[in-house]
Amino acid sequence: MTKRSPWQRTHTCGELGLPDEGKDTGVNGWIENHRHHGQIVFLDLRDRYGVTQVVVDQDAAGTAPGTFELVRRLGAEDVISVAGRVRARGSNVNKNRSTGEIEVVALAVTVLGEAETPPFEILDKAEANEELRMQYRYLDLRRRPLQEALMKRARFVTAVRNYLQGQRFIDIETPILTKSTPEGARDYLVPSRVHPGKFFALPQSPQIFKQLCMVGGLDRYYQIARCFRDEDLRADRQPEFTQIDLEMAFVEEHDVLDVVEGMMVHSMREGFGIDLPQPFPRFDFAEAMDKYGCDKPDLRFGMLLVDCTDLAGRSDFKVFAGAVAAGGIVKGLCAEGAADKYSRKGIDELTAFVTGLGARGLAWAKVTAAGLEGSLAKFYEGDKGRELCARMGAKPGDLLLFVADEQKVVHRALGDLRLKVGSQLGLRDPKVFRCCWVLNFPMFEWNDEKARWQFAHNPFSAPVDWSIQDFSVDTANLRSRAYDFVMNGWELGSGSIRIHRPELQAKVFDFLGIGKEQQRANFGFLLDAYRYGGPPHGGIALGVDRVVTLALGREGIRDVIAFPKTAMAFDLMAEAPSPVGDEQLKELSIATTVKKPG
Ligand code: AMO
Ligand code: AMP
Repeated sequence: MTKRSPWQRTHTCGELGLPDEGKDTGVNGWIENHRHHGQIVFLDLRDRYGVTQVVVDQDAAGTAPGTFELVRRLGAEDVISVAGRVRARGSNVNKNRSTGEIEVVALAVTVLGEAETPPFEILDKAEANEELRMQYRYLDLRRRPLQEALMKRARFVTAVRNYLQGQRFIDIETPILTKSTPEGARDYLVPSRVHPGKFFALPQSPQIFKQLCMVGGLDRYYQIARCFRDEDLRADRQPEFTQIDLEMAFVEEHDVLDVVEGMMVHSMREGFGIDLPQPFPRFDFAEAMDKYGCDKPDLRFGMLLVDCTDLAGRSDFKVFAGAVAAGGIVKGLCAEGAADKYSRKGIDELTAFVTGLGARGLAWAKVTAAGLEGSLAKFYEGDKGRELCARMGAKPGDLLLFVADEQKVVHRALGDLRLKVGSQLGLRDPKVFRCCWVLNFPMFEWNDEKARWQFAHNPFSAPVDWSIQDFSVDTANLRSRAYDFVMNGWELGSGSIRIHRPELQAKVFDFLGIGKEQQRANFGFLLDAYRYGGPPHGGIALGVDRVVTLALGREGIRDVIAFPKTAMAFDLMAEAPSPVGDEQLKELSIATTVKKPG
């Protein structure tokens, strides 16, 4: 047998238990804790698998000479190898760790890697500020919550792969050096040395390539794809992120939705032990807006928006009647049992919240056995009050909240108010998971700044009406075959049935004001491809980082990415992006207008 080197361990730090009592063992790890008790030193040794207590006893028989002196000099985060024997801890069991019933009595210790005092303590709870932790990300990665996130993320992605593989999808890699595809963000550009003055773009998504896979007859494509977008960053956005990207030929919406639903149920269970209730409700976009005031409903609780426009129109309450007369609507929320949870001050806060969202005010009433109380009460006495309560499904003890305005304002204000009140009443349990689909999104949206129509999802999404001739008629109400996958109020995925006919695709580009020349320059290869027989197809992309963040109840997607960037799209550890030398720029035929410091 070949001799083991000191760092070839026999066990991990998460492995030993009572059945191993008396065994010889070699364990390696980082010193997490270091306690001296006279002639004895206790070490907590940490690796990815767990923590094992090591005991070094100056007087123990068989201990290599100098071991005790060596260990006394060690400190936090030193990497050591311990050769020793497993001993039961008897009555001193540590119930908080899997190895808590044993300890390893050290016979020899080897230092494998010495650590300077780290800039922050490696604790489960991140106490150091995030910038410092990102600068020393390799230290932050030693924290259990981050390791747990990365392990579960990997399990989830493996489950996705297995599921899709089982559904006849082929894992296909598409180019990273490519031409820009319009996803609504700026591109990251890569200059070409051999084609001076020309640039590749990093893909914002593999969109066009996966469609070309369909033209290529591959039938079912998937990829765990890295995407790059130069956009304003938020807690749920990174400049590079990962999608589960898939595309299927000869399908309608429900075929794609069924596959993704099966994949999510399987993978959330495998990855995170989360059981998603099925089926995932499917809402028409208009229905989602009507009931939830937004296109990503949080289904963990009810409290739907109820339309009271007809009742309000007949009311003596000027705020209501006036809004209806002006062509607006009146909708309300019924917060069950919430009447005594909101003081006058609490309601003033809700009012300030909705006025911050553009509403002109918040009308409210508490329901009592005797009738309504609150700003509305005097206009809704007797039968009128009973009629309003019946419409709202309200009973004594409930709180009613109303906004009167144009539809857009009412939906925005009540949609967000519903989430706020839901949170305040504890109805949005982060351990409960509810998914849904929203279908038939608007085809185009008006861009105020540029004063023109732009695509709402992407320019390849098919219209609900295949036979459409003119996009300029009733544009705002045209629906596309685009859909979103939503969990707990988060948009986790988007997709659509695509246009597969070149003349229809060209018509969409025409309408969007993309000239023929630009169409050829940007999308010529896609339009050409369809001239050689493009199958009807559709697909979707789900944001992996967002799924994992939500599943694990983390604050933002940085908490589930090994090496994330800051909100300024900067890598604090590698200090990227960084300046490059003049030589390199010259080779790329690039001159910058940025002055060199100093
Ligand atoms: P879309 O642009 O909606 O669609 O992106 C799909 C999903 O990707 C995730 N996502 C992000 N995650 C982290 N950081 C970002 N900056 C970021 N941007 C998007 C979201 C989002 O729902 N090609 C189409 C898909 C298709 O039609 O098949 C696309 O990329 O979870
Ligand atoms: P006012 O008549 O402006 O004093 O408003 C009476 C009540 O109606 C107050 O509680 C206001 O917050 C509320 N209110 C005012 N405008 C609106 C509106 N557009 N929608 C709902 N409530 C409103």
